Parts: sequence; structure tokens; C-alpha cells
Amino acid sequence: MALRWGIVSAGLIAADFATVLQALPRSEHQVVAVAARDLSRAKEFAQAHDIPKAYGSYEELARDPDVEVAYVGTQHPQHKPVVLLLLAAGKAVLCEKPLGVNAAEVREMVAEARSRGLFLMEAIWTRFFPAVEALRSVLAQGDLGDLRVARAEFGLNITHVPRAIDWAQAGGALLDVGIYCVQFLSMVFQGQKPEKILAVGRRYETGVDDTVTVILEYPGGVHGSFTCSISSQLSNTLTVNGTKGKAQLLEPCWCPTELVVNQERKEFPLPQAQNKKFNFPNGAGLTYEAKHVRECLRKGLKESPVVPLAESQLLADILEEVRKAVGVTYPQDKR
Ligand SMILES: *[C@@H]1O[C@H](CO)[C@@H](O)[C@H](O)[C@H]1NC(C)=O
Ligand SMILES: *[C@@H]1O[C@H](CO)[C@@H](O)[C@H](O)[C@H]1NC(C)=O
Repeated sequence: MALRWGIVSAGLIAADFATVLQALPRSEHQVVAVAARDLSRAKEFAQAHDIPKAYGSYEELARDPDVEVAYVGTQHPQHKPVVLLLLAAGKAVLCEKPLGVNAAEVREMVAEARSRGLFLMEAIWTRFFPAVEALRSVLAQGDLGDLRVARAEFGLNITHVPRAIDWAQAGGALLDVGIYCVQFLSMVFQGQKPEKILAVGRRYETGVDDTVTVILEYPGGVHGSFTCSISSQLSNTLTVNGTKGKAQLLEPCWCPTELVVNQERKEFPLPQAQNKKFNFPNGAGLTYEAKHVRECLRKGLKESPVVPLAESQLLADILEEVRKAVGVTYPQDKR
């Protein structure tokens, strides 16, 4: 049975997500509606993506009985109010990362989903790439021996992108790209809570964090580190070393198609939708996440076993602690 999606926001990432949904079999995925705060943008989006209904408010989409699951691709500060609106209307929700601007927002959203018995997932699309699944099985099989250290780097000069540097939109390196690094270390160390967090960072002139380096110590004497940046191009790779070897996801590590395990390189080509036009690199890879959400919902799950809500909460806790350590607070922190 087809899963009926509603798309909330007519932005660039929402466009990429709609593109992959429309490239999947209609017997499995259908996009029934799109909502934007500006009706003309919603209509334009609907026309471009062949979507039957366009709404000029998120409330209308939330009320649409045809919508089974909503994809939220709004700006960071809108995630919480929009997700709460959709949950109140009984919709399952896939929300872009970061789920909330801070840990309290995530706590509220998670509590709401749980109390209503509804599916909620943070859209950490990276975890569903076959190269990342292959890395998880390498780790699970113990091919690297005992893990020792992991390292993630994600930095691009995106200071020309207004949203990325905008304090009011909760921009900055940690929430924009650092989240990918934290989720990587958390995946490698199996969602354990770090015992120690050390952070240094510099701020951009707008007050958001610009470049941040973090060390996370995990139970058992292992640690990981990451550097994220919105002003410097970094290696954009992820590495994990153990007593028997090393594994590496190559650039672009946030949407990787190549895994190297002890010098052996394996490629994982993108799905069919790769022939379509995307706003972001490897946008076709959003397919994996869309399929995962359908599988979860058809099994009646209330959260994803790959991106569980407790881990989204932990990621938000880590990001907030690091952000405060480098001296960045957002209006949401004061509420
Ligand atoms: C990033 O790009 C801007 C132009 O968009 C440039 O002015 C700036 O120097 C670059 N920053 C770094 C660290 O290279
Ligand atoms: C990590 O792996 C690389 C490649 O196998 C190796 O050269 C390096 O010595 C390893 N580092 C540690 C700390 O084991």
C-alpha cells in the first residue's frame, strides 16, 4: 500500500525529497500535498513536482486526512512548532536535522510523539546509505578488532548561504554540519553517552559558531573527535581505527558512496533517481531514508531502530553542551 506523504516547506531540501519520492514506485510512495507559508510558492512547488494539493499554511496540511506522514524541511527554529502541530493532528513525522534547536526542544517533541503513540524520526539520511550500512556491519562483525579512535571532519565554506550564518535561524557549524559528525561518532560508539566532552571553537561575525573542534571520551577508554566548519573546506571524511585496522568513508562523508576497509575500496552507486536534478550533492540518496520510513510505518513502529529518539535526544544534548562551551546561545535557550 502506498505511503501518502505531505511535504512541509517548499525549500531546497524539500524539493530534493519530493524528487526522490516521485521517482519511487507509486504503489509505494505518493506525495499528496505540499504546504508553504506562501501559497504561491506552494503552488509552484506542487506544479514542479506533480503534487495534487498545495496549501498556503502548515495547519491546512496538518488537517488533510489524506496525509499519512509529513516530511518537515523548514528552517531550524520552525521544526518544533511545526512538528508539534503535525503530531497534534495525528500525523507521523520525518523532520530534518537538527530535530530541535536545543535539547529542551527535542525533549518536548519526543515526549509529544511518545504520548500520542505517533512515529517521529530525525532525518539523519546518512545512516541509510549502503556505504554506511556496510560500515555498521564491519563494526558489528568486529573486523576492525577493538575500536580505539574515530574521527569526523565536515567543513565547507558556506558563509555565502544566508541561513548558515544567521543567528536568528539557528545557523552555525554545529547545527548545520556538526550534527553529521556527532551522529557518526555516536553510531560508531553505539549510542553510548560520552563521559567527557572537550570543545574549542571560533565564532563568526554574526554570532553563530564558525569552526568547532570537539573531543568525546566514551566508556571503555575510547574516544572520538570531530571538526566542523561553515567557513573552511575540510577533508569531509570519517575514519575509525581499531586494533585490527581502519575503515574510512570518503568525501562526501555525509552522503557517502565509498567505503574503504583496510585499503580495500568498495563503491555503492546511488539509486535510479540520480538522473534527476537535485539541489544538494547525492540528493538521490534521500531515497534510502524515504524507504526506511515506509518500512517502519508499515511495521507499525513508533520510532526508527536506526535513528532512535533516545539517540536524537543524546545528539541534541551533546550539541547543546558544545555550543554553550564555545559561547553560542540562541533565543530558544532562554525559554
Ligand atoms: C569563504 O568564502 C568567502 C566568499 O564567499 C570568502 O570571503 C572567505 O574568505 C572564505 N573563507 C575562508 C576561510 O576561506
Ligand atoms: C589507523 O589505521 C591506519 C591504516 O590502517 C594505520 O596506518 C594507523 O596506524 C592506525 N592508527 C591507529 C591509532 O591504530
